[in-house]
Amino acid sequence: MSEAHVEARQGNLPHDPIHHKEPLHASEQDYSPQVLEQLRRDAAEVISRYPQPRSALLPLLHLVQSVDGYVTGRGVRFCAEQLDLSAAEVSGVATFYTQYKRHPNGDYTVGVCTNTLCAIMGGDQIYEEVSDHLGVGHDETTPDGKVTLERVECNAACDYAPVVMVNWEFFDNQTPETTKELVDRLRRGETVTPSRGPSRVCDFRHISRVLAGFDDGLADEGPGAGGPSLEGLRIAQEQGWRAPSPQEAADDEPDDTRSDVEPEAGEQQSSADTPANAPGERPESGGGEPETGTSGRDTIAGTDADGGKEGQE
Ligand code: FES
Repeated sequence: MSEAHVEARQGNLPHDPIHHKEPLHASEQDYSPQVLEQLRRDAAEVISRYPQPRSALLPLLHLVQSVDGYVTGRGVRFCAEQLDLSAAEVSGVATFYTQYKRHPNGDYTVGVCTNTLCAIMGGDQIYEEVSDHLGVGHDETTPDGKVTLERVECNAACDYAPVVMVNWEFFDNQTPETTKELVDRLRRGETVTPSRGPSRVCDFRHISRVLAGFDDGLADEGPGAGGPSLEGLRIAQEQGWRAPSPQEAADDEPDDTRSDVEPEAGEQQSSADTPANAPGERPESGGGEPETGTSGRDTIAGTDADGGKEGQE
């Protein structure tokens, strides 16, 4: 950690970031005719997927980032023109979401989860040590332009806490040492493999184009869900539990518990009034025993037993 960093942390000096935070409209330079033509073609394809053009704003902002590396002033103007919005409306969205960068971003956004579970499992320590190791703070980029460090909120991967994301690919069960090694490898230009998902992490511009809706063919590569995420499914299969179909649930619902029936005074109104099952006690399935010849894997509603990559994008 540099002396300036230490003093800034102690509040003795104003912290001098590697890159100064520039206003969103910093770039006034127009796109070249070739780039603009390609952008317009891509934008038309994205817009055609939505019933209302303005619904395409989020992917178009990713598209701009895939070209410029962040949301530039010309990118804001481009989105506004394509979608018949004002620049203020586009800026309002671009400044709301942290995935849209207001200044040049590194090739790899390294997000350390410091939300509740990851924090207590070591996320705070990882962030502090990696920040010291790189000499940059939150939303700052290393001088070589390789790594932008961020604190990120819960990635819905708490079962692998503490979790680190690189361009939104998961690195599970991290420690300060493994994350420092990870950022060093990224800075050396080495290929790094996430814990789940594709065999390599792509750079920020590449992943921005994927987020804009242009498939790179990697979405189904590699494992999507691991043991801890599938533990509930394993237990359900072992016990022969299954979720009732919506029709079964409706048929089993007594008339006086239906939501459209007004409860009598003093009557139990919700499951919150009912004690939870004791540990090991089998919950009421409501749907009886599984049908003969039907496995729990096939019938547990809403569970991606094959470990799809849902939720990562
Ligand atoms: S708290 Fe970090 S993934 Fe949920």
